[in-house]
Amino acid sequence: MFRKFLLITLLTAFSTSAFAASAEERAQTAIDTRQGLLKVVASYFGPIVGMARGQIPFDAAVIETNAGKIAQLAPMLEDVFAMDTRASGLKSGAKDGIWEDSDDFKAKVATTTQRAIELAAATSQGKGPTMKAFGALGSSCKNCHESYREKDEG
Ligand code: HEC
Repeated sequence: MFRKFLLITLLTAFSTSAFAASAEERAQTAIDTRQGLLKVVASYFGPIVGMARGQIPFDAAVIETNAGKIAQLAPMLEDVFAMDTRASGLKSGAKDGIWEDSDDFKAKVATTTQRAIELAAATSQGKGPTMKAFGALGSSCKNCHESYREKDEG
């Protein structure tokens, strides 16, 4: 009795989320999830941009933490872009090449992850090397956007 109740509760809880019914809903969920993950990545990246521009004081500890978070999040890009949503016809900033040359896309994910790890490590060497490593991370974002993002906004 209780187990049956639990099962119904679980089914109700999930029916509106990841296990949505139609193919279009699944594609929309995938797109929302990708964009959400990239927003989270950007939320850790943004404060470091502020430091690079001198808008907020340089703080090596914050950069080390945020770079570590980006290194954890970046590999998830491979997972959230795994579903080919082209057939859905839904608009997003994702270019077809992601699924036409997925090995290259994955290589770009790996580069970003590696650069984030290197940035975290560089924070022990002072501001110069840290900002140099941050530049390298930023160009790995840009490098993927140039190939696979519809509008290159960085
Ligand atoms: C392997 C490829 C790849 C890498 C690496 C990458 N991005 Fe992106 N990014 C994309 C794609 C593709 C989109 C468009 C997604 C969409 O619109 O569905 C995007 C979109 C975004 C968006 C807009 C999200 C939204 O819809 O609001 C932000 C912000 C962003 N990226 C930041 C970054 C930052 C910062 C980095 C580096 C730390 C980075 N990206 C690295 C592929 C990448």
